[in-house]
Amino acid sequence: MTTKKHACPTYPHFLHGADYNPEQWIHDKSIWDKDMELMQLANCNEMTVGIFSWAKLEPQEGQFDFSFLDEIIDRVGKNGGKVILSTPSGARPHWLADKYPEVLRVGPDGVREHFRERHNHCFTSPVYREKVQIINRKLAERYGQNPTVVAWHISNEYSGDCRCPLCQQAFRDFLRKKYDNDINKLNLAYWTTFWSKTFDSFDQIEPPGKYTETGLHGLNLDWRRFVTAQTMSFIENETAPIRELSPHLPVTINMMFEFYDLNYHEVSKVIDIASWDSYPEWHNGDDADIAQKTAFWHDLYRSLKKRPFLLMESTPSLVNWKPYNKPKRPGLDVLSSIQAVAHGSDSVQYFQWRKSRGSSEKFHGAVVGHDGTGETRVFRSVQKTGEVLKAIDQIAGTVTDAKAAVIFDWENMWALDNCQGYALAGKKYWETCYAFHKVFWQRGIDCDIVSPKADLSGYQIVAAPMLYLTDEETVENLTSFVENGGTLCGTYMLGTVDGTDLCWLGGIPAGKLKDVFGITAEEIDTLYPVERQHAQLFGKEHELVDYCEVIHPSSAQVLASYTDGYYAGTPAVTINSYGKGQAVYIACRDTGSMKDDLFDHLLGNIGLAGNLADSSLPHGVTAHSRTNGETSYLFLENYDPASTADVTLKQPMTDLLTGETVHHVTLPPYSFRIFKS
Ligand code: GAL
Repeated sequence: MTTKKHACPTYPHFLHGADYNPEQWIHDKSIWDKDMELMQLANCNEMTVGIFSWAKLEPQEGQFDFSFLDEIIDRVGKNGGKVILSTPSGARPHWLADKYPEVLRVGPDGVREHFRERHNHCFTSPVYREKVQIINRKLAERYGQNPTVVAWHISNEYSGDCRCPLCQQAFRDFLRKKYDNDINKLNLAYWTTFWSKTFDSFDQIEPPGKYTETGLHGLNLDWRRFVTAQTMSFIENETAPIRELSPHLPVTINMMFEFYDLNYHEVSKVIDIASWDSYPEWHNGDDADIAQKTAFWHDLYRSLKKRPFLLMESTPSLVNWKPYNKPKRPGLDVLSSIQAVAHGSDSVQYFQWRKSRGSSEKFHGAVVGHDGTGETRVFRSVQKTGEVLKAIDQIAGTVTDAKAAVIFDWENMWALDNCQGYALAGKKYWETCYAFHKVFWQRGIDCDIVSPKADLSGYQIVAAPMLYLTDEETVENLTSFVENGGTLCGTYMLGTVDGTDLCWLGGIPAGKLKDVFGITAEEIDTLYPVERQHAQLFGKEHELVDYCEVIHPSSAQVLASYTDGYYAGTPAVTINSYGKGQAVYIACRDTGSMKDDLFDHLLGNIGLAGNLADSSLPHGVTAHSRTNGETSYLFLENYDPASTADVTLKQPMTDLLTGETVHHVTLPPYSFRIFKS
């Protein structure tokens, strides 16, 4: 039986489109005519509209004018395209802020913002919630059953927080509920006896900010949890009329790269499909590294809902907000779009369709430039991507069956940031997670990025780098994964603090994990940036940086030992059998070579091979797969700008673009091939 899980079941094809802001050109409808012509020429079949249109749609309170949206949705539909319709809450009209200043956000310094910029409203304000519901209901009533509309794009890039009196009150209510209205429970969880911080009542609690308490780690964590919960409640408020009036349309929010503010593992529970905005800094260093980091986030967004996601925004050429803004080189432009599809996206979408004439994004890349033609290099590369997507349409909706996963956790990241220990600056949590993901990417092994609470039963191997915050639920989850036959790789700092950021007592890693890994950890040597230590694994010496933890095996077998430092001769990597599985403890941070040798050993041991015949791929080359349960699709990508690579497939496969059947493949720089078996 075939399995397909289309991101938009309402349109079971690849979407190829862009953020489209035609209201910026409402004074010249000849531009709209040209847009329709160029969309067809660019092989685009989708436009995302209405993102920042509130001032046009409701120019004064209660006065609605949908004429521009009526016309645009109609035009796109007649042109053969589909629309993802946005709710406009990401930027509000002037009248709303003037009449109801409570909708404006209060910053960490306690100062309320003026009307300016975007993405800066209060998430608690009842007035804002009400006004958003009114406009969203109108949109859903008018377009919810329109066949051109295939999904809802809710607001834009939710982020940040507000510290107004309403948010403070909501935060206190959140804490009252969490701590059973018992202030002493909270005092204990936050360890407030330290420096006489004891709270007498919930009313004394303020959000961490510029002039308020930031030294209580449990409080800092709870604030981030509250902001996540409050954003989710805002999203639910936004989507209520939409879900009521158009229950068949999937709902998404566009998420971001290396995003800090919200726990997306939680937020994804209130949306139907994950989508994200991807803006890698290509050509700044090794493109293979940049591709792999980008792949990490594609993998994360696919893993959030365990189904295809949407690449909601990407630039067709360059951005305008980095210190240096460089256009994508020929080849890499199409390759970087296809990369998202290789990792499970059902779309390639750009920001934006037509370059703005004024304001801050007038030099941001767009499909159509200020020349207004389809005769640019960028336009032609978009056309080419569209051709590819049409040719491989059978892949839309297929899934990724990953047997490897890396655990990445927002709460852990926040706790590591709180942590005044080890190296104060740069614990490098993201980089460490990337380094473990790289092990799989480099070998052409599909890999999910999951929460520590995720169902791990489908994986053969899971890496849990720097999982410093390990609450009881996580301890149970990791333990049962190993008990049931999984291979778990933990590292230094595992199981150090609990869910409220209190240190675990009785030795680390926390509780049962000492038995699972068969070790206890005693202390960590933090290395100065120039310092290097070494460990020997399978007879070879490897370089270590940043962290060397001193551990004591109880039942674990030693795989690698330190060769210098006061801990020379003690274990650096161990392996322990537990239940039907095994737990590997990596006590130190290496520069890559030790991990390579270790994972070659482990992957061989558990029989997990990559998508190609050989697991050692040329530099910059990777291989990813999608499947419908019967047919497998293989994406080969080469991110090396200069070297042509030769690779061998596991068996002869048919190239979906050329129709030829091949076994050995030559991949020129910045190229890709897509096969079917
Ligand atoms: C995104 C945002 C878009 C646009 C784009 C420019 O973060 O959602 O509206 O500003 O960046 O790169």
